[in-house]
Amino acid sequence: MTGTDLAGVLDGCRIMPVLTVPDPGTAAPLADALAAGGARCAEVTFRTPDAAQVLKTMAAHRGLVVGAGTVLTAEQAERGVAAGARFVVSPGYDEDVVARCRELGVPVVPGIATATELMRALAAGLDTVKLFPAEPLGGVALLRALAAPFPGVRFVPTGGIGLDRMSDYLAHPAVLAVGGSWMATPGHLERGDFAGIRRLTAEAVERSAR
Ligand code: 3PG
Repeated sequence: MTGTDLAGVLDGCRIMPVLTVPDPGTAAPLADALAAGGARCAEVTFRTPDAAQVLKTMAAHRGLVVGAGTVLTAEQAERGVAAGARFVVSPGYDEDVVARCRELGVPVVPGIATATELMRALAAGLDTVKLFPAEPLGGVALLRALAAPFPGVRFVPTGGIGLDRMSDYLAHPAVLAVGGSWMATPGHLERGDFAGIRRLTAEAVERSAR
């Protein structure tokens, strides 16, 4: 597998729950709820102090391919991979993060918001990027316009996408997967609403298969 082969790692998973988990104690029931809803991949953001512990617990769930998200530094990428991350996602393009992920042999998905940023990623040999933040930037219209001059590039649009918008993105052939936090929000975790997480995940997974 090459360092950029996110498609191979995701293995057909098209709905990526983006998770911010303050309490590592909720990681196991969260993984169970996501998997029960049919999710096969997830991104644990490094926005909380115990993100690596959360990732480790979730990565042990056999049904889930788990990546590290909101990775801003090479050091976070290292901690994520050491905890079991199978891929690394950044909100933007950072050369050190990309280089370290290459060394570690994990796919890295930098965020891009413009054609120029996309060209930097291409110049670094990447072919898959996160379009972020997709909805505020212009949504599917932006995706279409940005994808047109770059055949072969795969996008993971994320940011402001919910159940109502995700199918429009998934219908575009350049979209590998869609990410979002709507299936498992901090509110769900605070309330211990794992049934709600399971229901919203199942709804998204079922709709993505249509
Ligand atoms: C991310 O880091 O990918 C985003 O914060 C997820 O975006 P959303 O919360 O708007 O779904």
